[in-house]
Amino acid sequence: MHDPEDLASNPSQTTPFGDMVDIDVRRRRLLQAGFGAAGVAFLGFPGSAAARGPLSPVISFHAVPVAVDDALHVPEGYEAQVLYAWGDPVSDGPSFRGNASETAADQERQAGMHHDGMHFFPLPAPPGERNRGLLAVNHEYADDGLLHPDGMRTWTAEKVRKCQAAHGVSVIEIRQLPAGQWEVVRPSPYGRRITAYTPMRISGPAAGHPWMRTEADPSGTLALGTFNNCSNGFTPWGTYLTCEENFYAYFVNRGAVPADQARYGVTDRGFGYRWHEHDERFDAQRHPQELNRFGWVVEIDPHDPSSVPVKRTALGRFCHEGATHTLAADGRVVIYSGDDQRNEYIYKFVSRDRFDPSNPPGNRDLLDHGTLHVARFDADGTGTWLPLVHGENGLTAENGFGSQAEVLIRTRQAADRLGATMMDRPEWIAVHPHTREVYCSLTNNSKRGGSVGNAPDGSTRAGSASPPTDGANPRADNIFGHIVRWRESGGDAAATGFEWDVFIQCGDPSNPDPNKQGNIKGDMFGSPDGLWIDPDGRLWIETDISPTSMYKGDYAGMGNNAMLCADPATGTVRRFLTGPRGCEITGALQTPDQRTMFVNIQHPGETPGERSDPGNPKAISAWPGGAAGQRPRSATLAIRRLDGGSIGT
Ligand code: FEO
Ligand code: CA
Ligand code: CA
Repeated sequence: MHDPEDLASNPSQTTPFGDMVDIDVRRRRLLQAGFGAAGVAFLGFPGSAAARGPLSPVISFHAVPVAVDDALHVPEGYEAQVLYAWGDPVSDGPSFRGNASETAADQERQAGMHHDGMHFFPLPAPPGERNRGLLAVNHEYADDGLLHPDGMRTWTAEKVRKCQAAHGVSVIEIRQLPAGQWEVVRPSPYGRRITAYTPMRISGPAAGHPWMRTEADPSGTLALGTFNNCSNGFTPWGTYLTCEENFYAYFVNRGAVPADQARYGVTDRGFGYRWHEHDERFDAQRHPQELNRFGWVVEIDPHDPSSVPVKRTALGRFCHEGATHTLAADGRVVIYSGDDQRNEYIYKFVSRDRFDPSNPPGNRDLLDHGTLHVARFDADGTGTWLPLVHGENGLTAENGFGSQAEVLIRTRQAADRLGATMMDRPEWIAVHPHTREVYCSLTNNSKRGGSVGNAPDGSTRAGSASPPTDGANPRADNIFGHIVRWRESGGDAAATGFEWDVFIQCGDPSNPDPNKQGNIKGDMFGSPDGLWIDPDGRLWIETDISPTSMYKGDYAGMGNNAMLCADPATGTVRRFLTGPRGCEITGALQTPDQRTMFVNIQHPGETPGERSDPGNPKAISAWPGGAAGQRPRSATLAIRRLDGGSIGT
């Protein structure tokens, strides 16, 4: 989901050209720091743009050009199949009608809107099938202009319920037939929709705290639903992690907004979902604690359709973009998560206990105990993970943190106090399977280059800060974004120190402003969002140019949103896919045989106002139905090579 505020409205401010030079200085410093031969090859030398490094993955597809048409483009020799679109039945639900006449109960048994992060969980393939598995798919948000025949012109409890049913997660069973095509298995005992009203358990340190208790749930341990599920994660024990991103925008507070609500972005109208008009728990003035039950990472067991999803509060409360795991040297579980708003932070959770593959029940609650950290990126190219632990570093009762529960419910305020580094909107995080380097996309930040930081007392209203540039966020008015990467000290993901550099500054080399040209070696792109690194080490990058910026101004030459493939060793970039008009590209992964890639096309046809005109739903895009379809639909793609080969090679 793009940020609702105009990304391109701020006048350009100058960035010292020296910041560009600093990147190479930092790379050399990392080399001198002793990453060894592998590190040298991985980081590459300045000027080695076109060369393949010894650790370079094979990337041999023919790049697709920038596109502005209402179509999907993949490289020659590839094909993309629409596998699961908004409104398709999950299992035995009703088929998509096309005219938005479905009821809320129908929508509850169909694919939700606005597909985002996802993960594939393989199952044994029966004879005669190439692959079978479960696909868990996030449905981040909804367009009420497409969801109801008359949009929001009338407003009812049934419409609120239908919109809530269009949010959440799908679990579908899918299989690949001998000829290569994929299909959803219907009916399936695994098929499941999780919505904005599905009961779920709250666990971890914040469960049951008075700030989590509501009239409807005096225990503070049973929440209803999850929504704005953006990126995702998964665990080594086979569960899915879905992340609550812009949760605050579904709540309204028409009174005096308390500082703690303001720090999380609550206003008197939110994003205009109007749920509070028929579901009073979204009135943050009447039910202030309900807000505290969102902003978490939710763990779902896709293999058990009767399982109750669990909100894992130990991972902190903020606009979680994703939850990417890796294992520490001693087997503890490490989860990285960005807080995607301007000038928010990057977090790392380290579990208390070790993952034990031989004892599945013992792993079930690993995410309930551990230490959450927030990142500080220092100017010398090193960084520190600052622990968010009650009683330490001023996180005490006298400063408003009476317990670990309160540190976690007020994660942002705790991070403010510790002096974490404000970042240019942290989106997805990916861990390189060989080098262990961690990559994070910083999508853009129109509020960089001023002198206003987040207040240490947590009183800053979300988005009102505009901090100065720094090494890790080197450009003022950073409209194109960049990708930062770090390497944990000693190669141990549980380390409290790291070394970092800027991998790519995005931009358009033809822009007359040097601040906006970027330093991409290869195909240009802007607003990086989705990141995924395949088992061979290809870094896949997905873009999310906002509809308010798309096709005009500095973004005039960038066209539709795209997916690109980068070589981490050399930094070279090649465009792999372009989406239809108005969409964003998100969700990325491959089957274990690396011969199918799943990608999501989110919100084709999205308008700058985010809600379509119900009288003209195909004003911007008619994808994927084209002339025969009645409205654009988000969808999961299965992408294959016509010759059956590995993706990317
Ligand atoms: Fe939902 Fe930060 O993108
Ligand atoms: Ca985004
Ligand atoms: Ca995103």
